[in-house]
Amino acid sequence: MRGIILAGGTGSRLHPATLAINKQLLPIYDKPMIYYPMAVLMMAGITEILIISSPEYIDNYRRLFEDGSEIGIEISYAVQPAPEGLAQAFLIGADFLGDQPAALILGDNIFHGSGFIELLASARRRKSGATVFAYQVRDPSAYGVVELDAAGMAVSIEEKPREPKSDLAVTGLYFYDNRVVELARRVTPSARGELEITDLNRMYMELGELHVEQMGRGYAWLDTGTHESLIEAGEFVRVVQNRTGMQIASLEEIAFQQGFINVAQLRKRGELFAKTEYGRSLLALADKHSGLKR
Ligand code: TTP
Repeated sequence: MRGIILAGGTGSRLHPATLAINKQLLPIYDKPMIYYPMAVLMMAGITEILIISSPEYIDNYRRLFEDGSEIGIEISYAVQPAPEGLAQAFLIGADFLGDQPAALILGDNIFHGSGFIELLASARRRKSGATVFAYQVRDPSAYGVVELDAAGMAVSIEEKPREPKSDLAVTGLYFYDNRVVELARRVTPSARGELEITDLNRMYMELGELHVEQMGRGYAWLDTGTHESLIEAGEFVRVVQNRTGMQIASLEEIAFQQGFINVAQLRKRGELFAKTEYGRSLLALADKHSGLKR
């Protein structure tokens, strides 16, 4: 399976903060926003990842991650000339995906919760169909909204409905089998001129192959598209990290736990960031695994 992070967009709801910088490069507390979705793909065990962003900003991501080898993965880059919809990721990423199944995550989505790695693993294990994650929100009308029957199967899925049929928003993390590129090619632009991921998901639903996993109370799903939600997400990360002493979305820590990098590589990265809590936590982890005490 290969992974795509879609990190373009206009960020117009964050203007003027995003006039001269791409949203996903803004910090969420102590790290760039894109670290959080990158962490999710890595926790799913995915090591081949495509970052898609707008032509102006793609080089910033290249500077940030280079080829990915420092964190034990392979990162490639592609441009989305204009933000013409989430499903376009599969047209842009068609060659990258080849005949592989795909995971797509939006660059501004943050997930946190216990049991998440197992939830990701079960979505990844599914051989056929698509898996989306539903999360109860107070105002679902800003999202794709999924309605489930008593057996938990999707019976409707609508993009930003004025009158939502449920309070279950579809989050920005999607798993697809290897038919995704072919199906994405059949999506036509919506009234707002976008290739909607909701239309792609509806195709899977109509095939009877849209699996919906509910993310319950134990999970935080935050998006960061407005000034208010951006600072709330930063505060969430700060509070959890300060309270527990554990990092959220520490890429090197995940890479180490997943076996993508060894203890020497972990230590090297810790030294690079030694002036920060982020770096110190990497060094402490390296020490622990070398039998040292810090
Ligand atoms: P949105 O929040 O829909 O759009 P945006 O980020 O451009 O912000 P605004 O509404 O304030 O103008 O996008 C959700 C995520 O998907 C975000 O991470 C940007 C990304 N995106 C793309 O990369 N390409 C696209 O064509 C679209 C629609 C979104």
